[in-house]
Amino acid sequence: MTQRARGARVTSANGRVRPSSVGSAADNRGRPIGVFDSGIGGLTVLQALVELMPHEDFIYLGDTARLPYGTKSNEVIIRYSRENTEFLLAKGIKLLVVACNTASAVALDEIARATIVPVIGVIEPGAAAAVKASRSGRIGVIGTEATIASGAYTRAIQRLRPRAEIYTRACPLLVPLVEEGWTDNPIAEQTVAHYLGSLKDSGIDTLLLGCTHYPLLSGLIARILGRGVRIVDSATATAAAVRQRLASLHIARRDGLGGRQSFFVTETPERFIRVGRRFLGPQVESAVRLER
Ligand code: DGL
Repeated sequence: MTQRARGARVTSANGRVRPSSVGSAADNRGRPIGVFDSGIGGLTVLQALVELMPHEDFIYLGDTARLPYGTKSNEVIIRYSRENTEFLLAKGIKLLVVACNTASAVALDEIARATIVPVIGVIEPGAAAAVKASRSGRIGVIGTEATIASGAYTRAIQRLRPRAEIYTRACPLLVPLVEEGWTDNPIAEQTVAHYLGSLKDSGIDTLLLGCTHYPLLSGLIARILGRGVRIVDSATATAAAVRQRLASLHIARRDGLGGRQSFFVTETPERFIRVGRRFLGPQVESAVRLER
């Protein structure tokens, strides 16, 4: 089903973007959680969120008309991220999850500064999970070009473990491979082996999957790196961080009446639905296209 909708822009006098109305913790419990990504990949984060918080409502925005973000400049990524945030805030969300690693790496501070609902990105939770998993402190990080160039994961890991040795690698071909469904064939294997060769040689004991798409390659990556390397993904760690934040702010849903997911995209929804089902499952059955 294809529908079209307009995203309302709501900006307060001090320039901060605000949700359509903000109430007490009790009023906010029933509000949805907003999640945005450059496109389809953020559904891996949504999946982790739904698994951990099945009674929450989620509104997911995939900026499918403008993906990938991973090859774009910081200025453009920040502008797109702000627009996505405005759209979700106008929907009255109680918390925002920036599911896109690239947007989290480059634009999280800008978004958080301009927004009055809590904002959680994937970098800090992912870095914390990698630090916890690593015994030796030799940690590999893979992501898009923009994520790796930002150094955001490196800084976040070093804040938690200053002596960590961090080895990073941009893997730009992995996003299209996963979207094509090539997650376990000879071409995927060769490509992953090529990207991970130098990380393997550097003796890492943990690899952090710093991109929304890479959890779908985790079986192949584990096989290529061998048993001695733990694979950590940011999605699971981010979901845990969201649950914790909802609890500490007393805004977790308690009435058991939620559990809905709605999807918005900026391109025609057909491809999002088709590929999205591989990421999340059959519940991706319709999406509303925004006019921008
Ligand atoms: N969602 C992006 C990320 O996690 C990957 C796709 C893109 O480059 O837009 O970095």
